[in-house]
Amino acid sequence: MEIEQEVLDLIENAKRVCILTGAGVSAESGIATFRDAQEGKGLWSQYDPQQLASIDGFLNDPQTVWQWYQWRRDVNKDKEPNPAHLAIARWQQRSHQDGNQLVSLITQNVDGLHQKAGSSPVTELHGNIWHNHCLQCNQIHQASVEGLEAVPECTYCGGQVRPSVVWFGEALPEQAWREAESAAYSCDLFLSVGTSSQVYPAAGLAALAKSQGAKVLEINPDPTNSSVVDYQIAGKAGEVFKRFNI
Ligand code: APR
Repeated sequence: MEIEQEVLDLIENAKRVCILTGAGVSAESGIATFRDAQEGKGLWSQYDPQQLASIDGFLNDPQTVWQWYQWRRDVNKDKEPNPAHLAIARWQQRSHQDGNQLVSLITQNVDGLHQKAGSSPVTELHGNIWHNHCLQCNQIHQASVEGLEAVPECTYCGGQVRPSVVWFGEALPEQAWREAESAAYSCDLFLSVGTSSQVYPAAGLAALAKSQGAKVLEINPDPTNSSVVDYQIAGKAGEVFKRFNI
């Protein structure tokens, strides 16, 4: 049987699907990935993650980190979901209506494009770039920060307000991680889309799924060659979803 037919059969017959997305799923919306095979294209080949995506980086120079996130928000604010986000959202909606398949969506992305495409629910493992909270008292900061160049002060405790994204060395949100583990543990098809599978614990979810008997499918123009992957579809996410008519 051709690999594409095998993949289609897997997708159609799976009872529980766990989709894990990474930065690559938003690449066709014009949002840069972090790591790219092409030198100089991923954000981490231009910027230092220790400086911009770690608690030490923020404590050393909150202003620079805040402004970097303000810049990223500015770049992302007009971006729209692409065919991959839309296909995943339709798939989830179909599964709600038909009731014969459970499709869990776990994302490492902070851009909110899955929600904008109509996906629900979306488990955000690395937070959300549009949200802010106080570094000191954890209070959610509701006020708009659009255009603010200086780090806002928490109105409750006077602490510094930071973007609600998970930085290197920080724990993932507990509830989101529980949902992700449970979806990976109980699925029969695990679909990894647009992630370099280098950042743990998210990168360990595919192995968890496989250890429980799930088939693992990867969509990526530069396959990660992970030993846990059963089916590799080399291509851009939006194009692959279209080709498979998902
Ligand atoms: N479709 C699918 N995949 C793509 C596309 C595309 N159009 N374009 C690029 N890719 C792939 C790249 O080949 C790469 O393997 O997407 C992957 C992006 O990898 P990363 O940039 O490492 O993104 P991700 O895996 O989400 O990173 C994990 O690292 O810095 C942290 O917190 C950040 O959530 C992020 C985490």
